[in-house]
Amino acid sequence: MKKIMCTVGTRPEAIKMAPVILELKKQNWAQVRVLATAQHREMLDQVMNFFDIAPDIDLNIMKPNQNLTELTARLLLELDKVLLEEQPDVVLAQGDTTTVFAMALACFYRRIPFGHVEAGLRTWDMHNPFPEEANRVLAGRLTRWHFAPTESSKGNLLREGIAAEDITVTGNTVIDALLMTARKELNIGVEIAADKRLVLVTSHRRENFGEPFKNICEALKCLAERNPDIQILYPVHPNPNVHDVAHATLGSVDNIILCQPLDYAPFIAAMKRAYLIISDSGGVQEEAPALGIPVLVLREETERPEAVDMGVVKLVGANKQTIIDEAQRLLDDVDAYRSMARGVSPYGDGKGAERIVDVLKDHFI
Ligand code: UD1
Ligand code: UDP
Repeated sequence: MKKIMCTVGTRPEAIKMAPVILELKKQNWAQVRVLATAQHREMLDQVMNFFDIAPDIDLNIMKPNQNLTELTARLLLELDKVLLEEQPDVVLAQGDTTTVFAMALACFYRRIPFGHVEAGLRTWDMHNPFPEEANRVLAGRLTRWHFAPTESSKGNLLREGIAAEDITVTGNTVIDALLMTARKELNIGVEIAADKRLVLVTSHRRENFGEPFKNICEALKCLAERNPDIQILYPVHPNPNVHDVAHATLGSVDNIILCQPLDYAPFIAAMKRAYLIISDSGGVQEEAPALGIPVLVLREETERPEAVDMGVVKLVGANKQTIIDEAQRLLDDVDAYRSMARGVSPYGDGKGAERIVDVLKDHFI
């Protein structure tokens, strides 16, 4: 039996790691250990409950409004203790959060091979997104198995000098999770009038905190006031830098509903019901195209260029007027809308987890 430790810290890591954990649990050669750093608390628990996965180890690391240095330092110390005690044969982590960077480094110090799920995403700008670009570049240097979601992410790794034999293009496991979930009966759990076009919003990027995020909120307010036939639904991220500004600016606008983060299945239901999505989320940029819903991305650049190149996702940054103009165009111009509302899935086919597990199986068995 090989001991495989799967790490989850935040909501999106749990969503994208769940299919890998479930696939590994089917293998008779693998003993799966699920380590939750709980860099997120409630939002991690929401997802773990949904996929019915209980962590074997839970570091309960989250503190309110945590800062990056303290979070990283605490993670390194706690992860090292776990690695020493557990002695896994391989550790997997997903994405580009502080949890992932800290785990890659902790594994390196203990000489435990590290597998990176969703490897090779790059903007080539260390400050955008912040700190995620640095996290994934640094984790990538310490990785034994790179599970790249697309050919272009593989190309990024090759450009950094990673050996081709260490990279496998697997597809993104976000699509595995989406397909598992979208086939179930889904309910948003929030009343949306049948005659309203739903505009779904999420936002949480650190590089948007402050003025850019205020601009985003003002753009949403203006769109809601100009278009009484739309309903904006905005599940607000609990980070106080986001939560407090969103509630202060948008809390009393008639056709804007601010709610707690939705559970994963209700959020998929909301995406399916949406006319348009406005978001700075990485995962949403991957899921929405597969559901045929246009996304305006509240960022200047993206490490997920495939859907932008296909014309179904558009970067609008955090400029108030640009957000208003681009959203209004999709609300008014049917042809412009139709050209973006095409179901395409450049990020995966639902078999990402199988391919990841196959690589490990080939290595160990
Ligand atoms: C983190 C990741 C980001 C990822 C995002 C997904 C880092 C540095 N950032 O950003 O890459 O895209 O998660 O959502 O790794 N909080 C709660 N409850 C929760 C979760 C968060 O109250 O369940 C609040 C806490 O006050 C916490 C704060 O949000 O301190 C920030 O959490 P943190 O994980 O540091 O950053 P995110 O902005 O969530
Ligand atoms: N999501 C969710 N509930 C919400 C908002 C998002 O379950 O209220 C899911 C969404 O489907 C996607 C993931 O969370 O799979 C994205 O997480 P987030 O935007 O926090 O992080 P990112 O992908 O930007 O790292």
